[in-house]
Amino acid sequence: MRLFITFEGIEGSGKTTQIHLLRDYVERKGYRCQITREPGGCRIGDKIRDILMDSSNENLTPLSELLLIMANRAQHVTEVIEPALRDQRILICDRFHDATVAYQGFARGVALDLIERLNQTVAGELKPDLTILLDCPVEVGLARARERMANENVSWKEGRFEGEQRDFHQRVRDAYLTIAKAEPHRIKVVDGSRDEHTVEREIRQLVSSFLK
Ligand SMILES: Nc1ncnc2c1ncn2[C@@H]1O[C@H](COP(=O)(O)OP(=O)(O)O)[C@@H](O)[C@H]1O
Ligand SMILES: [Mg+2]
Repeated sequence: MRLFITFEGIEGSGKTTQIHLLRDYVERKGYRCQITREPGGCRIGDKIRDILMDSSNENLTPLSELLLIMANRAQHVTEVIEPALRDQRILICDRFHDATVAYQGFARGVALDLIERLNQTVAGELKPDLTILLDCPVEVGLARARERMANENVSWKEGRFEGEQRDFHQRVRDAYLTIAKAEPHRIKVVDGSRDEHTVEREIRQLVSSFLK
């Protein structure tokens, strides 16, 4: 079945963890499911992702950052998202347009109307059917993200966003909640500070109403 689900939330809110749990669940129910992510999602997208995540690129301007993300999306929509949906899959994307509005718009201060115009150009009418916003306090998310990076031996060099100041992440969290309020039908806020399995159960319930 054709279903486009996106996961949003600050670093460490549990997106990647919950996406994998949700995939296991829908596959057990017999649905075909594919996971992808932004930035990245395809070969060219991954190259753009490397530029975006590289913390030695501290002089990347907000506008260049936005244009790289949009170039990534143009490629990703055409190469991955649209074919998967045409093929009647459940496509789960780790971050999509709401992240651009929250990070580049609200947190970096790029004009929201420019972001909307560019998104219209690269993604057209494509919109998630359901967006799960994993909300948690910045301290909780960042502590988890730091622990994960330490465990996985990921260097801070690959964490340009993780390296931002606390108030940057606070602006992102607040922005996500504002965006969710404007589209309560599509965007469901889930308290991501609870344990993994409680969060997982709530997400299953939200997704179940879309499954036939
Ligand atoms: N509900 C949770 N409670 C405690 N730790 C969690 C929870 N969800 C995820 N984690 C851990 O926190 C870290 C970040 O989770 P992750 O899913 O990678 O977040 P994100 O993709 O949103 O950055 C990982 O090490 C993960 O195992
Ligand atoms: Mg992740």
